[in-house]
Amino acid sequence: MLIPNRSPNFLPWDENELAPVWSEVFGNDNPLALEVGCGVGDFIVQMALLHPNINFIAIDFYNKGCIKTCKRIDKAELSNVRVLRAEARSFIGACIQPDTLQMTVINCPDPWPKLRHRKRRLVNTAFVAYLSGFMKQGADFYFATDFDDYGLDVAEFMALQQGFDNQLAPDTFRHHLEGYPISKYMRRFLEMGQPIYYVHYRKG
Ligand SMILES: C[S@@+](CC[C@H](N)C(=O)[O-])C[C@H]1O[C@@H](n2cnc3c(N)ncnc32)[C@H](O)[C@@H]1O
Repeated sequence: MLIPNRSPNFLPWDENELAPVWSEVFGNDNPLALEVGCGVGDFIVQMALLHPNINFIAIDFYNKGCIKTCKRIDKAELSNVRVLRAEARSFIGACIQPDTLQMTVINCPDPWPKLRHRKRRLVNTAFVAYLSGFMKQGADFYFATDFDDYGLDVAEFMALQQGFDNQLAPDTFRHHLEGYPISKYMRRFLEMGQPIYYVHYRKG
């Protein structure tokens, strides 16, 4: 039994329902950004404060994470974030119109460290090609991970991904990204002395 999430910033949605009309949800036509796997929401709150003219959709399939994210948003009195409990691929296909996202952010996705589990990783060339169809021209794609093998893999395949321009060139990744907020997982790994791998591309 799921703990109910009664925050006004939580948008209950399930796969049998129609897609939300985002301009009605937010009450304006500001550009849309998506964070996949928002965890406990510390990153999205910082981003929403930095970019008040962007509407952020934060999704995670972890219910307690959605509740914690909403509590942070409510406390910060933000009006430009909504949280949904959803799985990324099905959510994007059902709720995002093609060519509409201005930004997509994925921080510390589950690393699936065992070799035989790596095919379960969310971020791969097929996922980015799929996601690209929902991003506007000029939209930003940010990926961050603490896990070396994941960081190097995404840095390598993004350099070959059709239709994206590297914003960190000549580097394919960096360990610091000026102005980019730190998430709970990033902080945890930084405190253990592990570097974060940041990748930043723009849809051309
Ligand atoms: C390791 S945590 C990182 C949380 C947060 N981004 C951070 O950096 O602190 C990964 C999060 O992604 C969520 N997640 C993983 N795969 C997902 C998917 N396919 N759709 C939605 N959420 C997903 C998990 O539930 C979890 O909360």
